[in-house]
Amino acid sequence: MSTTDSVCASAPGKIILFGEHAVVYGRPAIAAPVMQVRATAMVEASSPGDGLTITAPDIGRKFLFAAKFAAKTTTAPPDDPLAAAVRRTLDDLAVDAPDATLTIHSTIPIASGLGSGAAVSTALVRALTAYLGRSLAPDQISALVYQVEKIHHGTPSGIDNTVIAYEQPVYFIKAPAKETASIERLTVGETLTLIIGDTGHPSPTKQIVAQVRRMRERDPAHCDALLDQIGDVAVSARRAIEAGNVDALGTLMDENHALLIKLGVSSPKLNALVEAARIAGAIGAKLSGAGKGGNMIALLQAQADAAAIIEGLREAGAKNVICTTIQSTLPQVQK
Ligand code: PMV
Repeated sequence: MSTTDSVCASAPGKIILFGEHAVVYGRPAIAAPVMQVRATAMVEASSPGDGLTITAPDIGRKFLFAAKFAAKTTTAPPDDPLAAAVRRTLDDLAVDAPDATLTIHSTIPIASGLGSGAAVSTALVRALTAYLGRSLAPDQISALVYQVEKIHHGTPSGIDNTVIAYEQPVYFIKAPAKETASIERLTVGETLTLIIGDTGHPSPTKQIVAQVRRMRERDPAHCDALLDQIGDVAVSARRAIEAGNVDALGTLMDENHALLIKLGVSSPKLNALVEAARIAGAIGAKLSGAGKGGNMIALLQAQADAAAIIEGLREAGAKNVICTTIQSTLPQVQK
């Protein structure tokens, strides 16, 4: 095993453009990376015999993996996602923990639909792998992070780890009752400009996914009809994105938001921000991610006044606002 003195790696946040929740039940969804927010992981060599110290000072987490038999001796609490990411990486590479310190920072708000958990795991896996002189392909990193996502989310669709590990806009369909998915890189006909508005209310994905599951158990016909309609919107959205039909996309975002309200996953604050963005000139807006809090997204015409929409969102109580764009990137995604 060869190691270097220090390695730094990072991973972006993400937004779900279309299809959240329905994607858990095999309907298509569309997601894109958000490069303006990132998780970073730095691995630095320490003294022989020190073992591997993991530290995330922003959230007050610190624990140790002993140098030998890493999977068995750690001071991390059971089910700690950072420890799980380290353990799975070391197991995958079939190596012991190196003598090093791994430090994690992130500018992605936690529990807000921007993929904080998957980004932290991806940055960690990338940095640790590179430090150990190895490399993993995006699909291998995504598969590894998916295992960690199960600790965060219970029954994740896998869209977060996919879009973050590939760092490209993706059209994603989870195979029913399986851990596999069809992943296609999206061609973006016209650069999309989006404003992301944060309600400031954290929203644990696991609980909201469980709420939808209970709704589906109570009334499967009604719930499946909503999920079908969300899936249909995602299919149309894919066509609009590829054709560069931004106006149609705005309308589809509004439709998707209305369906998410019916699914019971929006909130008064999300609705207020969506409404404020529309009034300020957005051509469409919706919640993004699990809902009940977290973030919403608003779509702008290329020549639109982003400042007016940012101001409208802030006046309606957005705690943070990010302006981002989505465009095609180099083709790398494999099925
Ligand atoms: O992690 P979030 O809040 O972006 O939610 C992910 C989207 C869901 O469809 C609600 C869950 C999933 O696993 O796909």
